Amino acid sequence: MAANVSFAAALIIGFSLLFAVTAEDPYRFFEWNVTYGDIYPLGVRQQGILINGQFPGPDIHSVTNDNLIINVYNSLDEPFLLSWNGIQQRRNSFVDGVYGTTCPIPPGKNYTYILQVKDQIGSFYYFPSLAFHKAAGGFGGIRILSRPRIPVPFPDPAGDYTVLIGDWYKSNHTDLKAQLDSGRKLPLPDGILINGRGSGATLNVEQGKTYRLRISNVGLQDSLNFRIQNHKMKVVEVEGIHTLQTTFSSLDVHVGQSYSVLITADQPPRDYYVVVSSRFTSAVLTTTGVLRYSNSAGGVSGPIPGGPTIQIDWSLNQARAIRTNLTASGPRPNPQGSYHYGMINTTRTIRLASSAGQVNGKQRYAVNSVSFNPADTPLKLADYFKIDGVYRVGSIQSQPTGGGIYLDTSVLQVDYRSFVEIVFENSEDIVQSWHLDGYSFWVVGMDGGQWSPDSRNGYNLRDAVARCTVQLMDGHIHSTGQRRDVEHKIRVLGKAILRTTVVFTSLHNLDFSQR
Ligand SMILES: *[C@@H]1O[C@H](CO)[C@@H](O)[C@H](O)[C@H]1NC(C)=O
Ligand SMILES: *[C@@H]1O[C@H](CO)[C@@H](O)[C@H](O)[C@H]1NC(C)=O
Ligand SMILES: *[C@@H]1O[C@H](CO)[C@@H](O)[C@H](O)[C@H]1NC(C)=O
Ligand SMILES: *[C@@H]1O[C@H](CO)[C@@H](O)[C@H](O)[C@H]1NC(C)=O
Ligand SMILES: *[C@@H]1O[C@H](CO)[C@@H](O)[C@H](O)[C@H]1NC(C)=O
Repeated sequence: MAANVSFAAALIIGFSLLFAVTAEDPYRFFEWNVTYGDIYPLGVRQQGILINGQFPGPDIHSVTNDNLIINVYNSLDEPFLLSWNGIQQRRNSFVDGVYGTTCPIPPGKNYTYILQVKDQIGSFYYFPSLAFHKAAGGFGGIRILSRPRIPVPFPDPAGDYTVLIGDWYKSNHTDLKAQLDSGRKLPLPDGILINGRGSGATLNVEQGKTYRLRISNVGLQDSLNFRIQNHKMKVVEVEGIHTLQTTFSSLDVHVGQSYSVLITADQPPRDYYVVVSSRFTSAVLTTTGVLRYSNSAGGVSGPIPGGPTIQIDWSLNQARAIRTNLTASGPRPNPQGSYHYGMINTTRTIRLASSAGQVNGKQRYAVNSVSFNPADTPLKLADYFKIDGVYRVGSIQSQPTGGGIYLDTSVLQVDYRSFVEIVFENSEDIVQSWHLDGYSFWVVGMDGGQWSPDSRNGYNLRDAVARCTVQLMDGHIHSTGQRRDVEHKIRVLGKAILRTTVVFTSLHNLDFSQR
């Protein structure tokens, strides 16, 4: 069975107790109540996690530079923590919302996340990052529109839809956690949801008009393929970067990734299948929704269009074809000047390899042989207050060790203002997603075979996309080279706060469950 597990490599850069919001930029206030409630996505009753009674949770609509003030009441009976996938934590990653940066909200309490979507545009989502809560809901879309005077490289769409796709289990989040804790891997999911529905999710369109779909894979493990019967999709944005506009008839979206596509309702007026199917799985899971023309002459008909299933090259070629439109507007990953990322010398190469195995009877996942053990004190607090004994710098090697899996609170140090090349390696037979919390990186290469310094000759040093989540194909043959800029962040933070940068790696989706 092919199953993929997402990892997070969170980069902590400095820490300040003050929220550095900019007074002149607009504020948007949100009051969210997180509760359990009955949901029936696959036709059976399940205990879902709702936000203000909704599953999926409400979308966050914002404009570049807005301050988002999100007061979250945790009405569950367990600690709850929200992470803002792809939102850059430019001054301070304290509210990033993964274990180790932000404390969970205790049951019955509330906490106010203060985020600024500084110099960002694009499509993202939020999700609960603890205790497998993601398997019960609590996720929703985030969109950041360009400011009114900033040109967008395509005409205003007639409609703008959030499309959250993801695999889904009938088992609840505590049961799934228990399976890993008893040493088993996750089973094949029971289905796939589109906007919280196992079937029948509907997108309404008017004939002749063009629509933007913001597609995110909010699932637990499956790479998914998205397509619409008889309609082409033009990819225009990836996690905050306007791309060269490229047309596809179907699109692979890996766990944690977000894409904007434009579709034009240019077919005879009727209903068309919206199809999402699993990739690289032994049994292909498929779900359908409906693209409904307002003047539709009838329901969906014809065969459900097929898509790629196990083809790896197809997926790699598509990923390589998605590149930055260098002349389009949009905030750059580094407005301070290093946007010509290919001209900057890297000072360090870090190689990170994932692995899976059992430790003390539990199913664990590791990076360079270390399976992350959360510390009682959040690492950022330990770092800021210089509390000894919480973690050791160097508790994870910066190269694969080839050794067996052991537990540690892995922390890797990189130098202040350094420009780092990170090579992710996957020798497992499952797809991996790597997500960098609070930052984005340039995906400069993606290939099979063993990485070596010669691989740099094949890097795209011109127009790679800067994004927060990248996939590593399954099989023993693929690796991905990347580099990212950490300079900008630190410059914004200021030298006075911290002279070094701490990188720690942890499990993204499976955080708590494998302890
Ligand atoms: C949250 O919802 C629950 C259940 O409806 C309700 O009992 C509680 O008062 C709500 N809390 C807030 C802060 O709105
Ligand atoms: C909790 O919510 C109240 C408003 O109901 C707010 O005044 C308070 O600041 C919030 N607490 C936190 C820690 O965000
Ligand atoms: C890139 O952006 C420019 C500026 O908006 C636009 O004119 C051009 O069509 C875009 N190119 C592609 C291939 O998307
Ligand atoms: C999950 O399901 C099990 C039964 O399979 C049940 O005992 C447990 O209470 C459920 N947990 C939650 C949080 O719903
Ligand atoms: C990068 O390194 C090369 C070779 O050491 C050097 O010639 C060049 O000036 C460096 N470039 C920058 C921007 O530092």
